Formats: sequence, structure tokens, C-alpha cells
Amino acid sequence: MEEKHLRLDPWEYMLIDDYEKLMIEFGIRPVSELLGAYNLDHYYFSRGIIFGHRDFDTWLKKLYTGERVAVLTGFMPSGEPHVGTATVYEELKYFQSKGVYVKVTIADAEAYAVRKEDRAITIKRGLDFVAHAVAWGIDPEKAEFYYQTEMPSSYYRLIQMFSRKVTEAEMKAIYGDLSPSKIISALTQAVDILHLQLDEYGGYRYVLVPVGVDQDPHLRLTRDIVDRFGQELQLERPSSIYHKLIKGLDGNKMSKSRPEYAIHLSDPIDLAQKKINMALTGGRATAEEQRRLGGEPHKCSIYELYVYHLVKDERELNDIYVECTTGKILCGPCKIRAFEKLKKLLVEHQERYREALKSVEKYIKPPSF
Ligand code: TRP
Ligand code: SF4
Repeated sequence: MEEKHLRLDPWEYMLIDDYEKLMIEFGIRPVSELLGAYNLDHYYFSRGIIFGHRDFDTWLKKLYTGERVAVLTGFMPSGEPHVGTATVYEELKYFQSKGVYVKVTIADAEAYAVRKEDRAITIKRGLDFVAHAVAWGIDPEKAEFYYQTEMPSSYYRLIQMFSRKVTEAEMKAIYGDLSPSKIISALTQAVDILHLQLDEYGGYRYVLVPVGVDQDPHLRLTRDIVDRFGQELQLERPSSIYHKLIKGLDGNKMSKSRPEYAIHLSDPIDLAQKKINMALTGGRATAEEQRRLGGEPHKCSIYELYVYHLVKDERELNDIYVECTTGKILCGPCKIRAFEKLKKLLVEHQERYREALKSVEKYIKPPSF
């Protein structure tokens, strides 16, 4: 029987449930191997939300020895920022708190090419992603944001140079489908990831890319490109960390075509409440059964919200877990508690967001067309 190979598709939100298998298949290292040696003091690490990495130890060593390092990630401005987007914001905020320079690309070229988004809408949404980032707590004075299409010709020259180093067979193996828009977007992302190593962009920095694991194909491609340039460009393989993708509120893949199953950072509070109310939980068929058997938090989209965003204190999270699994609490009251926490988060966030939106163009220059 032919063995079935996994393929990650960065352009399709896939439901991934076997992260172990993914790591083995693609050679992603477990972050758990670094927890003892490095002070990774964010609950994303201890809870296994950030579960995998490539060369993160190399990056951490450079950070600790005072070498020039940076964090770079990107957002495709299609759809609205939601709690999944906020996972990346949270990571950026964490690295900023360690004094790391952060650079963020707004992937408007990718949104145009792959998502077929309207250009004007994409440009406006880019500002929105930045304003939400600032509202989440990213200090815009210590970060840099750019639109892909606003980059100088040297950036675009690199895309063309990179095209010489990848083959059709490789692209097919990594991405499956080979439409020109996807090839160009993948090479563009490789330049996003590597450009901070070049002198003309402020001098060499060793880059860490924090992303959802669905983006790993781009990192594999980028690493291959680096290897093939050898002396010609003297690039180094980037490092990366991967988080698990937060699921939709129905436990399925979160998708733009089903916004009712995602909590967006701009959702009106009553809408957020409706979404929580209809969210899939790990509850049992009847209250009696749940009191007897307990709930199943690992199947519960509400519990996932607690873990990612709503409960930062370990003890509190553990209490919730125990209450759930021993049947002490039922899903109704548990949802009310989750909603109260979410409401606070959203109200405060949205207030900061409205403020941030007023001055966002100080921090990023939107393309004129
Ligand atoms: N492809 C990413 C997304 O879909 C956006 C992106 C563009 C990116 N360039 C990047 C992410 C560089 C990380 C690093 O959201
Ligand atoms: Fe989820 Fe709470 Fe129900 Fe447990 S009690 S399954 S955590 S909603």
C-alpha cells in the first residue's frame, strides 16, 4: 500500500490534529527539548501552544550572547484579525518584551495574488492589522511594519534571483498545486524572511519567524534556497517556531468563509456572546451524564479559548480543567464565565484599537495604488 504523505497547505486552513506526526514527517523539533535550557517564560511554551521549532536554540544563543537578532512575521490582510491572529500578536509582544527588534510584513501582494482580494480593501485592511497589533500591546516605536508592495526594487530583484534556485519538482513536492500566483507568493515570502540578513536593510540580523505551523512549507522552501546560494549570497537558514492553530468554534477548521465560527477582534460584544453560546464544547449529551463522567476539555472550543487567551494563570486554568473533567461545572455556566472574560478582553482591546487606528499611518505607509 502506498504510504500517505502529509502535506501542509499554507493557503488552506487545515484542521490538524496530529502534531506529533507532523513533526516526524517534516523534521520539526519539539520545543519541549529547549524548555530546560532556556528561560522561555511565556505560557505558550509551557502549555505547548508553541510546540515546534527549527533552529530556535541557535537563535536563543545569539540572543543571549548579544548578537544581532530579529523577529519577523507577516499577516495576509484578507479577512479580519481574529483570536488566531492574536496568537501571533502575543508572540511578537513577548519577544519585544525581551528587547528584540520586530518586523512585520503586511502581505498585500499575496492577498492580491492568491486570495484575489480587491486592492483598495487589502490596503485598508493592512492598516487594520497593524492597529490591532498595537492595540494588543505591540510597541510600534520598537517595531517596523511594511507592505510587500512598498518595498524597493532590491527586494523584488531578490524574488527573481530566488526563482533560479527552485525547481518545479520541489515546488510540487512542497505545495502540491503550482499556480504562478502561489509560486510568486512563496518566493516573496522567502524574501520577507531573508531580507533582514542583507546590508541594505540595516545590516545583518539573525531572524526568528514565529508562525502557525501551516506556514512551515514556506520555511522549508526558504531554507532550501539559502543552501543553494552558498557563497553567492551568503545567506543563513532562518529559525522558526510554530504554534498550534486555534480551531473554529465548531471544532472544525477556521475559515474565512465561515466567520460565524471565529471570534474577531472587532466583533461587537453581543455577537461574540452569540458565538460563544453556540460554540461546540466537550460537554456530554445530558447534564446527568456530564455530572457523572465530566466534560472533555480537549474537545472543547471554549476550553481552547481559555488556554490561548482567557486564562493566563496556571492555577486558575488547572481549576477549570478539574471542574470540567470531574463534572462539577456544566457547559452553560462555564460558557458564561468564558464570555465574561472574553468581554473584558474585547472591550479593552477595542478601545485601544480605536485609538491606535487614528495614528496608525505614522507606523506604516500604505501603498498609493
Ligand atoms: N503567508 C503569511 C500568511 O498567510 C503572511 C506572510 C507573508 C508571512 N510574508 C511572511 C509570514 C513572512 C511570516 C513571514 O499569513
Ligand atoms: Fe468545555 Fe467548560 Fe463544558 Fe468543560 S465545562 S466541556 S471546558 S464548556
